[in-house]
Amino acid sequence: MKDCGSENLRICVLGLGYIGLPTALMFANVGYRVHGMDVSSRLIDDLIAGNVDFSEAGLNTLFRQVRQENKFSVSTEVTAADVFIVAVPTPKGTGNQPILEPLYSAIDKVVPLLRGGEILIIESTIPPGTIRKVEEKIYHARPDLYNNGGEGNVPKIAYVPERVIPGRVIQEIIQNRRIVGVSCNLVGESVSRLYASFVTGGIDTVTVEVAELCKLAENSFRDVNIAFANELSMICASRGIDVDAVIQHANLHPRVEILQPGIGVGGHCVAVDPWFLATEFPQESDLIKTARKVNTKKTNWCAKRIVSAISRRGLDEIYFLGLAFKPNVGDIRESPAIQIVRFVAGNRPDLSIKVADPYIDYIPPELNEFRNIQFVAAADLDQIKGNCFILVEHRDYQKYSGADFQFDDFPPNLNVISDWMYDYRSE
Ligand SMILES: NC(=O)c1ccc[n+]([C@@H]2O[C@H](COP(=O)([O-])OP(=O)(O)OC[C@H]3O[C@@H](n4cnc5c(N)ncnc54)[C@H](O)[C@@H]3O)[C@@H](O)[C@H]2O)c1
Repeated sequence: MKDCGSENLRICVLGLGYIGLPTALMFANVGYRVHGMDVSSRLIDDLIAGNVDFSEAGLNTLFRQVRQENKFSVSTEVTAADVFIVAVPTPKGTGNQPILEPLYSAIDKVVPLLRGGEILIIESTIPPGTIRKVEEKIYHARPDLYNNGGEGNVPKIAYVPERVIPGRVIQEIIQNRRIVGVSCNLVGESVSRLYASFVTGGIDTVTVEVAELCKLAENSFRDVNIAFANELSMICASRGIDVDAVIQHANLHPRVEILQPGIGVGGHCVAVDPWFLATEFPQESDLIKTARKVNTKKTNWCAKRIVSAISRRGLDEIYFLGLAFKPNVGDIRESPAIQIVRFVAGNRPDLSIKVADPYIDYIPPELNEFRNIQFVAAADLDQIKGNCFILVEHRDYQKYSGADFQFDDFPPNLNVISDWMYDYRSE
């Protein structure tokens, strides 16, 4: 097996998005020879030109540093390496089933390059049992590696899921504790040594099956807990009770920690990963499926209330501020804010809707079809005279929390939405 302590080790990272790019840069920064590949030639051209597509604190600095030192190359091709790291997307389909084509297509590109003894690490979030399927796929494609030269030639496969949160990726990629899923201790030691080159939070080696379940359990746990807070907010609203006060006082109980309610759950992880468990274990996952349902219901509940508040007031123009799935990032994947804007635009085609987000400089594709939506670059609320409605509490909007231009008859927790991804007590 390859010596993961050697700086001559070549690493090829497949998929240079929110996870793959920072990971590649981290390995390059500690001295490994890193090649990054991505199927998007636009992204590769941008990187070659020195531009990073998404904003993350510290990412640009790290990129410039690594680039200056010539430690990182990029292209649309997979190159021969000692370690391959796959960080391609694993979204969900229309029936909520995991879409694994990008993962298998990435592996197909690696397979012909294997010479024997390479390490293949999957960082993408995957449904249980996927690593075994990857092993079988490689075994069938390259029996020569298994039949000739003994155990040393067999590719070593590990599952090393990510726990970072958009907005704090660089900080968390270093500080978070990592889990390494392997089927053999020796591989575990090698992969742990590799990640220990930049991870300070500690590394735990477990079986592949534990790692796969662990990743999905973490995000399902978040989803279920957020669903509880969201359900509570709807219960309170139905009787005009202040949910913030209820949560604040309930959390004084030494064993209670209710999260903050919001407008729903978005993002590439918490809104998606529970489905990987639910579709794999349909009989056993009642709570997980219900949580997904409740969090989606909360988004629709908010959208309907906005529509009726607008009608009651006879408004003909409204601003929606914030489109991202959470505060202080430009990530719009599965964003409940966008779902709300879509609902309002579809229900009130006569209403003029202006949308703005300080982190986004284009109209999201999901809003393109609506003629009554106009994208405005205004991030400064002081310049806006109309009826504003803050969907995402970006830093720029926080000073308006509780401001009197908000509708007093909007539902609780809707005027300004807190960062529902965190437990507010730990902030
Ligand atoms: N973003 C997060 O916060 C986060 C956190 C934990 C885990 N994850 C998981 O990590 C994985 C990657 O997520 P991401 O947020 O980085 O996705 P992303 O969409 O930001 O980036 C993925 C990149 O992979 C490229 N790609 C697609 N198919 C490819 C292929 N076959 N070969 C090479 N490149 C390919 C895309 O062009 C894109 O640039 C997903 O499984 C996701 O669930 C993400």
